[in-house]
Amino acid sequence: MKDFLSISSCDAEELLEFLDLSDKLKKFCKEGKQDSCLAGKSLVMLFEKPSLRTRMSFQIAMTQLGGNAIYVKPEDIGGIGKREPIKDMARVLDRYAEGIMARTFAHETVIELAKFADIPVINALTDWSHPCQAMADIMTIREHFGKLKGIKIAYIGDGNNVARSLAFACAKLGMKMTVASPKGYELDEKSIARTNEIMALTTVQTNNPRDAVKDADVIYTDTWVSMGQEDEKQKRIADFQGFAVDGSLLALSPDAKIMHCLPAYRGLEITDEAMESENSIIFDQAENRLHFQRALLKKLLS
Ligand code: CP
Ligand code: NVA
Repeated sequence: MKDFLSISSCDAEELLEFLDLSDKLKKFCKEGKQDSCLAGKSLVMLFEKPSLRTRMSFQIAMTQLGGNAIYVKPEDIGGIGKREPIKDMARVLDRYAEGIMARTFAHETVIELAKFADIPVINALTDWSHPCQAMADIMTIREHFGKLKGIKIAYIGDGNNVARSLAFACAKLGMKMTVASPKGYELDEKSIARTNEIMALTTVQTNNPRDAVKDADVIYTDTWVSMGQEDEKQKRIADFQGFAVDGSLLALSPDAKIMHCLPAYRGLEITDEAMESENSIIFDQAENRLHFQRALLKKLLS
């Protein structure tokens, strides 16, 4: 594997190898041990959108592995694909660094970078997918349940980048996912069909959040307004009424673990009560971004 762009193009064995390595490096790190496998290596981090977790976890993972991460804002380089073609940028960075990670609007941007750079390219979120998030999520689920096969996730909210990557991960690893979204905000049919081709009946779409949470092991949500959709904020908030992860929804599946990729908008897609519930594993998820990132960098860059 050269790049990490989408979970749909990895096979189950590769994903499990990443998860096992993430667990191993987490334990290693908690024991205070050092691994300098990326000494002298650099990761260029291109961001078209804001980030706390992704930026910090990649930067800290690089430092912990003895390497260096360089954060680049679009204005620093005159915009991705604006001052110069993406294919030129990719071939220049490839002569300087050992890896590129990019958070972009268009998914095609990370594909173009990967096509023209000989060094690994990592998708740090696009409008279409968020594979690093899904891997940290799956790692967290495996830690809490001791298994993946048969685990049922109820994803409540927008059929967006986070939902799509999670659905692909579920299909590859033998889990089930029900996506409950308002009409017009469902996960696209092509992605659902792809997950069901990988494993029959993995993904079910409904417009009823109450149906989705029945027998769920995990209740997952994400913002109703993703980065780049700020102009639609008022309409989205109105359209998503009834889809909040709140006490009445949680009461239908009282033992389910609660997950959110963060940042969370309390009072919209999730209540403060749900965030702070003893069933919440949200901050374990956030922590595991670091441990998965470390495994990914070690595997792709060393
Ligand atoms: N979950 C996540 O990707 O967070 P950031 O946008 O802060 O990186
Ligand atoms: N769906 C959200 C995820 C943020 C981590 C977004 O794209 O903004």
